[in-house]
Amino acid sequence: MTQMVVRGGKPIRGEVGISGGKNAVGAILPATMLVDGVCRIENIPQISDVSLLLTNMHKMGAGVNTVNKSTAVIDSKGLDYHEGDQDLMSRIRATYYFVGVMLGRFGKARVAMPGGCDLGVRPIDQHLKGLRALGAEVEVENGLICAEVKNGRLRGASIYLDVVSVGATINIMLAAVKARGKTVIENAAREPHVVDVANFLNSMGADIRGAGTSVIRIYGVEKLSGGTYTIIPDQIEAGTFLTAAAATGGEVLVKNVIPKHLLSITAKLEEMGAEVEERGDAVFIRRTGRLRPVNLKTMPYPGFPTDMLPQLTACLSIADGTSVITETVSDNRYKFVGELSRMGADIQVDGKTAVVRGVERLSGSRVKACDLRAGAAMVVAGLAARGVTRIGDIHHIERGYEDMCGKLRNLGADISIVEEAAPDELAEKAMA
Ligand code: EPU
Repeated sequence: MTQMVVRGGKPIRGEVGISGGKNAVGAILPATMLVDGVCRIENIPQISDVSLLLTNMHKMGAGVNTVNKSTAVIDSKGLDYHEGDQDLMSRIRATYYFVGVMLGRFGKARVAMPGGCDLGVRPIDQHLKGLRALGAEVEVENGLICAEVKNGRLRGASIYLDVVSVGATINIMLAAVKARGKTVIENAAREPHVVDVANFLNSMGADIRGAGTSVIRIYGVEKLSGGTYTIIPDQIEAGTFLTAAAATGGEVLVKNVIPKHLLSITAKLEEMGAEVEERGDAVFIRRTGRLRPVNLKTMPYPGFPTDMLPQLTACLSIADGTSVITETVSDNRYKFVGELSRMGADIQVDGKTAVVRGVERLSGSRVKACDLRAGAAMVVAGLAARGVTRIGDIHHIERGYEDMCGKLRNLGADISIVEEAAPDELAEKAMA
């Protein structure tokens, strides 16, 4: 049993560099397979989701060469249709992008239904609606998304998304980039990673306009050719370090970020009493004195991101008063609350709302990472708590954070990954 062990109660101080964006790379790596050429992708985060994606792409026939820890060269010249490894694909969420990519390149796709964090019901109806509007026949059968376009090439269409969906916006963009004619996505998601995918595709010869607004126009092109592209920094990793600094009363320079992407997060942290300063492509944060409570509602970008709700809740659980948090994006974001309560947090959840009554301090406990951001919240709480926190199920954290422990240790945190014998092994040892 691998655990993260945190001895908390100590402010973190120093500088930390942010890695490439998980949700950008999760789309851009599959998107390289739309390119009939060689793509060099830089600033790739070393996370387990990326390893799974690259392994699957290799199995699908792409040439995958890792140049160094954050750069890969992907050669999809003359690729033949291959379905890849459905078992691998079912383990992560971003694999739904292979549907748009394979439809765009080969006019057919068979891809396992996505996995990823259990955040409640996570339908993909808007993806399927968009792909059907582009002329594909799409069915979900035996856990697979099976799609095909009869004459081999999708055709442009106007698509209005019923919900603002990052995944559906990107998937439709991927499928439409080589379709015949013009595609318009209305009520599109505006997240930085949507823009990053559009920028990547445009740099390879696509014609996508309006990414970052709620109307995206895609003019289909015949061919994409290769080139070099650098992934944007991870907005949520940066937000997690800023929040950890605020929770511990620390002082941290978070480097290699796009401060504009962090505005909804830094504005909240300032409202809570932290001192925040933009310094070029870095953000400095310092917290002295007790944190103030705030009310918070998650929203699609540029609103406060759902992926930062757990970490900020951990921070608010030691604020001087009561905060009210409302989740509007995911169905089941609050699984971590039970774990945080073991550490002494006072939080009541009713449907999509959580009432957080700040306590003087949290105390270390044995907890688990219920999902990726829930795990990050446990780390934030553990760093701020008095005593030792042991976090189990850390594979969830490793899916989305590059070397979280190492980066925190550089900031002076007492945190390590340890192997602990499973309870039955311990019992055996005790009886021996
Ligand atoms: N939705 C639908 N139908 C659809 C698609 C989405 O009803 O066809 C709903 C969802 O159920 C949800 C809302 O729309 O209530 C937003 O979902 P969205 O499609 O935007 O999310 P996603 O593509 O499934 C991505 C990230 C998530 C992040 C969300 C929201 C990836 C691989 N995942 O998920 O990342 O929470 O956007 O920003 O890009 C994470 O990083 O921890 C994470 C879970």
